[in-house]
Amino acid sequence: MNSDAVPERLAVIGGTGLQALAGFETDSEHPLQTPFGEPSGPIREGLLAGRRCLFLARHGVPHRIAPHRINYRANLWALRELGADAVLGVNAVGGINPAMPTGRLVIPDQVVDYTWGREHSFYDGVSYASESARGELTPLEHIDFTEPYDAGLRRGLAAAARGLGLDVASGGTYAATQGPRLESAAEVRRLAQDGCDLVGMTGMPEAALAAELGLPYASLCIVVNAAAGLGDEAITLESMREVLERGSAQVANLLKAWLEA
Ligand code: HPA
Repeated sequence: MNSDAVPERLAVIGGTGLQALAGFETDSEHPLQTPFGEPSGPIREGLLAGRRCLFLARHGVPHRIAPHRINYRANLWALRELGADAVLGVNAVGGINPAMPTGRLVIPDQVVDYTWGREHSFYDGVSYASESARGELTPLEHIDFTEPYDAGLRRGLAAAARGLGLDVASGGTYAATQGPRLESAAEVRRLAQDGCDLVGMTGMPEAALAAELGLPYASLCIVVNAAAGLGDEAITLESMREVLERGSAQVANLLKAWLEA
């Protein structure tokens, strides 16, 4: 896409702390099977700011699927089957770059993938030849991943965020780690040396799978803690939750403002 048009049918993949979107009025639910298995849960369809959207909770409801066990392929495939024309992943992350402190929203523009053992491609030589309402994939392609995140989506989100006066950073490199454990301090030092600004566990292979399906994709990150070894306090789920609550409200407002534009 890379165009500034607001998506006609945006799919939002909600991460930790975002199991529902404030203001999203669900009118139907789609329990889907895909050639790659089941998505994280039924996909909700409805209206946000008067626009048709799809919503999927990445970790399931209740929050139960660990980052390395998420069926990313089924999630993306199902969203495409339901007609999504763009996908926004919302991700809770740890901040590495001091310019990305706890509470900040970040729209990354690059990614480094440190995950392993995940089903990271539709081109597995077996299951791509599936029946699909939207057509089959070709047997093998080496997709261009120079720009992992769609520039048009990123610009639209950043402009809407600025319009609302939100504390948002546009640009930054997301390190996708395997989890579900957090990193050691040395691992975070290495990520910083690699040029990473943020660290999370769910950004990949989601972005690459969207690219394989030709779906414009962007990520909206909520910094919920200083990455391991960089903050004064222990990283706990409770402290993340508090930040997430505020961050999720901001994300919902931001999406509404963007879709209304
Ligand atoms: N590391 C990895 N994933 C995360 C973090 C972190 O510090 N915080 C939230 N998700």
